[in-house]
This record gives sequence, structure tokens and C-alpha cells, in this order.
Amino acid sequence: MAEAQAIDANSGDVPAETTERATRQLPKENTVRVRNLIKRYEMGTSIVGALQGVNFEIRRGEYISIIGPSGSGKSTLFNMIGGLDKPTEGRVYIDEVDIAQLDAYELAWLRCRKIGYIFQSFNLIPVMTALENVSLPMIFGGMTADDSRQKGADLLTLVGLGDRIQHKPLELSGGQQQRVAVARSLANDPAIVLADEPTGNLDTHTGLEIIALLKQLNEENGVTIITATHDTKMLDVSDRIFYMADGKVEKIETRDEIDLQVGRLDGQEVG
Ligand SMILES: Nc1ncnc2c1ncn2[C@@H]1O[C@H](COP(=O)(O)OP(=O)(O)OP(=O)(O)O)[C@@H](O)[C@H]1O
Ligand SMILES: [Mg+2]
Repeated sequence: MAEAQAIDANSGDVPAETTERATRQLPKENTVRVRNLIKRYEMGTSIVGALQGVNFEIRRGEYISIIGPSGSGKSTLFNMIGGLDKPTEGRVYIDEVDIAQLDAYELAWLRCRKIGYIFQSFNLIPVMTALENVSLPMIFGGMTADDSRQKGADLLTLVGLGDRIQHKPLELSGGQQQRVAVARSLANDPAIVLADEPTGNLDTHTGLEIIALLKQLNEENGVTIITATHDTKMLDVSDRIFYMADGKVEKIETRDEIDLQVGRLDGQEVG
């Protein structure tokens, strides 16, 4: 599709024709690495340990799902990886750069250009049209108004909303708003997309469409996708699943291990 060519994830070394996920070769470099990540929130006299020592690395081009119950620390972890909040202790490395060492300008660049965010609650600006919402980050990124409008329209077409670009968020369904949020997250060709429960408010069908779109970006453009979810439908497309509980990553499974388990579970249920 022509519009997809507008997207360049700065990581073109993942072959576009690679569709066999089990056998595909990913680049060796880590794009995200966290070390001993701790986040404590002080609430009056009590302290909430939202993250209690998290360690992992994510390679460029991986599709990761972080699954865990409400309150297990998924959004907190996203805020740390995305440079939106600071850990109490520990380090976050993006492309092996410790983001705590970045100055304000470099951190703003990281947030604007390197990472795309999809929030569960969409966070669209209500008085702006879909096109304006998607184009705004490009203006912040230094693009001209004309170019940003053109690219915004291309991205909205990519997510299937080419005929809704002048609609404001309240004139769109929940699933359509979520798709605007997906288009906006891609505004500046991010290398990494952080998607916090991107299907949380959607019906099954629309949720699957969003997942398919993220998977397409991952496979065709090499975008690293990190999603948080309660939704086991997401697991199917993931390279690895991180299971979170009580502020820790308790277990990491690869795609092959999930396949095995699904097969076994199916067998038991059918039998
Ligand atoms: N700003 C804050 N101040 C105090 N406590 C917080 C704050 N943000 C999160 N917490 C607490 O930290 C813990 C982790 O919250 P977090 O939002 O990361 O969970 P989550 O896994 O994203 O949950 P959900 O699936 O419901 O979105 C929770 O116990 C929450 O109450
Ligand atoms: Mg959350």
C-alpha cells in the first residue's frame, strides 16, 4: 500500500518480506534495556512500590506484550521507558544511551521523534480534527504545515480513516479514536511504539484490527512494538510475552513457548 511507504522507522534492516515470525532474524542490538528499575510513590505515610526491581532487554524490531493484572506496574513501566517520568532507582537505556544522562533538549527529541505513544484513553485533543491531532506532533517536530497535513492524511488513510480526517474525536467511534491515536503515534516515524492497552476500550473485532495494524508496522517497517495488555488476543502476534505481577517481571516467554502451551491447552479443552 502506497501510504505505508511514508513510514520509515529508521530501522530498515529488517527484511520487509520476512513474514515467518518463528524464523525471522532480528537485529542483535538492544533498543530498550532496563536495569534494576524501581519506582516508589509516596502517598502520605504509605509508600507504593509500583516497580520493584525490573530487568530486561528488548531488541530492535521485536514485538513485546507486557501482560499483568491491574496495578501490576505496566503503565508505570511505560512512563519510565518513554521518558515521561523518572524512576526512583535504576536505569533506562534507549539504544544503549542512559536517558537519565540526556539534557532537556535531548529528552524532548527522544519523546517527539524516537518514541510513539498510544495511550489507553486516547488523549486526543477534543477541539481539533483527526487530521489536526495527527499533524500536531509533526509541527512540533519542525515540519511545515503543508507537509504535515499531507502526511497526516496519509497516516489516517493507512489506519482506514481517510474519509474521516475532518471529524473531531467526539464525532468518531471509540475504535476510530483509537485508530487516530495509532496514526498520531506514527507521526514522526518512531523507531519504538509504546502502546498502553491499545485495545482496552475496543470490541473484539476492532481490537483485532488495531493489533493487525501494529503487527504490520512491526513486520513491514521494523518498528519495535511494546504493548501493555490484559488481552490474551495480543499474545498471538508477539515475539515475547513479559508477565508482570506486583511491580516485577515474573516470567518471560518466547513465541515458541506460547505456541506449545496453546496447543496443550487446546488439546485439554477439546478433549
Ligand atoms: N501517580 C501515582 N501515585 C501513586 N501511586 C500510583 C501512581 N501511579 C500508579 N500508582 C500505583 O502504582 C501501582 C502500579 O500502577 P500502574 O498504573 O503502573 O498499574 P497497571 O499495571 O498499569 O494497571 P492497569 O492494568 O489497571 O492499567 C498501582 O498500585 C497504582 O495504584
Ligand atoms: Mg495501566
